[in-house]
Amino acid sequence: MDISVVGAGYVGLVTAVGLASIGHNLVCIDIDEDRVDLINRAESPFYEKGLDEALRTCVREKANLRASWDYDEIINTKVTYICVNTCSDSGENADFSHVRQSARRIGETLAGKEGYHIVVMKSSVVPGTTEEIIAPLLEQYSGKRVGKDLGVAVNPEFLQEGKALHCFLNSDRIVVGEYDRRSGSFVEEIYNGFRAPVLRTGMRTAEMIKFASNAFLATRISFINEIGNLCKKLGIDVYEVADGMGLDPRIGRAFLNAGIGFGGSCLPKDLEALLKQYEKMGEKSAVLSAVAQANKSQPEKIMEIVGRRLGKLSDKKIAVLGMAFKPDTDDIRNAPAIETVRQLLHEGARVRVYDPKAMQKAREIFSEDIQYGDGVADTIEDCDCVLILTEWDEFKDENLYSGKIVIDGRRALHPEKARRICQSYEGVCW
Ligand code: UDX
Repeated sequence: MDISVVGAGYVGLVTAVGLASIGHNLVCIDIDEDRVDLINRAESPFYEKGLDEALRTCVREKANLRASWDYDEIINTKVTYICVNTCSDSGENADFSHVRQSARRIGETLAGKEGYHIVVMKSSVVPGTTEEIIAPLLEQYSGKRVGKDLGVAVNPEFLQEGKALHCFLNSDRIVVGEYDRRSGSFVEEIYNGFRAPVLRTGMRTAEMIKFASNAFLATRISFINEIGNLCKKLGIDVYEVADGMGLDPRIGRAFLNAGIGFGGSCLPKDLEALLKQYEKMGEKSAVLSAVAQANKSQPEKIMEIVGRRLGKLSDKKIAVLGMAFKPDTDDIRNAPAIETVRQLLHEGARVRVYDPKAMQKAREIFSEDIQYGDGVADTIEDCDCVLILTEWDEFKDENLYSGKIVIDGRRALHPEKARRICQSYEGVCW
């Protein structure tokens, strides 16, 4: 099928490469000309495991994926996915202005197309957005009628950064929120050959499935972090508790790794957006408000430990290992490491940072305020204390930290082994 994807960011490019990998013909539309050039040269504009290789295959060997800044390319396709980002410029709150703008441009372009076309919302938008805002905008600017010569559907993504392409190609579910049966069947056909169950719902239900899923994952993390904070005081290992809980099939072990909290472009933003939706509807969520609040407080635990170990931080040398919000990505949006580094600097510490992939992004935030190490050994040399804030594989060898004071925010090290090798070892909640 000929498919266009508007927005060649993280979700858009992974979706396009995924759809091209299963044989569809893809054109990515993006207003950023540099990004378009990169994609056409088969280079991914951001780091994501396996994406470069898959992009090369689609662009060079199969020749079924290309990029363009020209919206008119949409006309020669049957389906258009909206995959523009929903982050505000500060990266903190959901902002749907890009989604609205792309709907308008798609509508204007479709005004010049004969025949049926379907628009699929993949960006995460709060329940009701596609029905109340996007569909009317498409109608207004295309002059077409939704349900007649225009189809609309919601097809949320459940991609985890670091293994996004794998998540796409091995989806555990395909949720299709449909305006009408015709729209839903069209989208279902795109995923022919996937083994995942297909759930067909209304559009606002599909939007809610995405938000509720992310809110639930966030809830599990804040829950286990709070259990961890208590376990630490009681001398209990929260990871053993999580293993025990996880054996109950009603609970499961996933997303019960305690630490300094969740970050990234989705969980914090979607949680905030959902809380705003509660407010807008005159409702309250005691649970989700607490989840957000608990996550904001969790990085403070690291600062408490540093203070207890080192006393006043002025002129103390602190090595920070890991800036990305999780391993296998260069994404530092809402990473707990950012707030921790800010607090360290605020207290006068001298901070030296190392991350295998996110150094450039860290430089964009902290520029001259901190030093940048070259590998683990170089970063921790002569430091008063090491903080591990992302569990990258290359940080996981306890022998690297012989004689050091190590505070682990992610359970990167094995506690018993680390206690034997380090001068001292403490976890954020173990
Ligand atoms: C998330 C959802 O998992 C995905 O389905 C959705 O489409 C987008 O948002 P992502 O943001 O890539 O994906 O990251 P995820 O792997 O979910 O991790 C989010 C954060 O939670 C990270 O900071 C991670 O370190 C943290 N986390 C995760 C924990 O602190 N403990 C855990 O047990 C799991």
